Amino acid sequence: MIKQSYWMAGALIGTVLIAACVEQSSESEFETPVEELMGQGEAMVENLCGECHAIGVDDASAHQAAPPLRDLSKRLALSDLRAPLMEGIVTGHPDMPEWAFEPHHVDALLYYLEQIQSQ
Ligand code: HEC
Repeated sequence: MIKQSYWMAGALIGTVLIAACVEQSSESEFETPVEELMGQGEAMVENLCGECHAIGVDDASAHQAAPPLRDLSKRLALSDLRAPLMEGIVTGHPDMPEWAFEPHHVDALLYYLEQIQSQ
């Protein structure tokens, strides 16, 4: 059991490192236009998050316990969301569904979130 959790930790760290490399190379090689990222990200949060979270710069959350997405960076580093979003391990609260997104969807979602942060 102990060995297994070391392995899990190693796998997680590895994933984060790989994600970091992929992110860097995608910036230089693929260059998805930012308008496209912004549009995709906005559509994703509207469809998937807006039911509970405030998704814009001055709206209110529909679910009382859900923090406005523009305030996420007060609570965590947005880049730390990359691995959980890809692996579907954003949990810790029973009300929120679990997803595993494709890398380009994670790019779009994180790009949108970065743009709307209040600080
Ligand atoms: C059905 C309701 C619901 C939906 C849909 C939902 N969330 Fe949440 N989310 C919550 C609630 C409630 C919390 C606060 C839980 C807590 O504080 O324990 C939360 C918390 C979070 C947190 C953690 C904040 C922190 O301080 O740790 C993140 C990140 C987050 N949501 C991102 C998202 C994203 C991105 C989406 C859309 C892809 C989404 N959520 C969709 C209900 C939802």
